[in-house]
Amino acid sequence: MQRSISIIALSTLDEERFGVKTAKSKNFTWHEIPEILAQCYQNHVQLLIARCPTLDLKTAQELEKQGFLLMDTLVYYEHNLHLKINITLNEKILIRTILPGEAETVRALAAEAFKGYRGHYHADAKLNIHQCDDVYTSWAYNSCISKDFANEVLVAVLEDKIVGFATLRVNDPNEGEGVLFSVSPAAQGLGIYRMFTESGLLWSIRQGMKRMIVSTQITNVAVQKVWARVGFYPTSSFYTFHKWFD
Ligand SMILES: CC(C)(COP(=O)(O)OP(=O)(O)OC[C@H]1O[C@@H](n2cnc3c(N)ncnc32)[C@H](O)[C@@H]1OP(=O)(O)O)[C@@H](O)C(=O)NCCC(=O)NCCS
Repeated sequence: MQRSISIIALSTLDEERFGVKTAKSKNFTWHEIPEILAQCYQNHVQLLIARCPTLDLKTAQELEKQGFLLMDTLVYYEHNLHLKINITLNEKILIRTILPGEAETVRALAAEAFKGYRGHYHADAKLNIHQCDDVYTSWAYNSCISKDFANEVLVAVLEDKIVGFATLRVNDPNEGEGVLFSVSPAAQGLGIYRMFTESGLLWSIRQGMKRMIVSTQITNVAVQKVWARVGFYPTSSFYTFHKWFD
């Protein structure tokens, strides 16, 4: 039986940024691929971003047969918040909530730290690299000014200067998510990311949540090292494919 609801979602954010009609699809299996493609043709979609669980190799292989190209692999980790949480102390670094007027600083930090990042946008040779960088800078900025993007934004202050930020989201009453974290290249390697991660755990506990989740590209070893050290464990992973319709 055919599904009557749409299994693609048009992405106006991506269309405005790249000037390309873009749709996204997830939570589907291989037998729905013909319907997904049909919806793309009907809607004159130029770029489809499709995500499927790595466990579902049949779907991944069907996507490959249809000309989809692999762009990244996302890994998800979870912390059940019951473990004892240690807070790393560093008297030189202060982690605090962002203050009004600091959104532009966060935007500039994201521009610096995410330049050439290894996400699925940057992996697509057909997308302009500067516009790919802007995915992260505008996401970071929007997170500071709108609760639609983040419920909390933390910053790290070193010698009176903001050198990093972390955005946190409430997914549901039981689940918090660490979304977008970044540390200025000049301040990397000082343990600031670890302090942000521990602060995110404390924030989730204070919200009364049962778990905190985080995700990243499988190639981002720096953050996964920190997650393992503070008690996160891996839960799932997803392939991100792009298909162009030109
Ligand atoms: C990933 C990132 C947040 C790490 O921040 P950080 O404050 O330097 O991290 P920490 O000091 O807590 O160090 C964590 C580990 O990662 C390593 N590390 C830090 N920066 C690294 C880099 N650029 N490349 C490789 N490893 C790095 C550290 O050496 C440390 O490992 P070690 O203890 O075995 O030496 C920072 O490099 C960054 O902003 N990168 C770009 C954006 C990004 O990847 N954000 C996260 C995904 S949303």
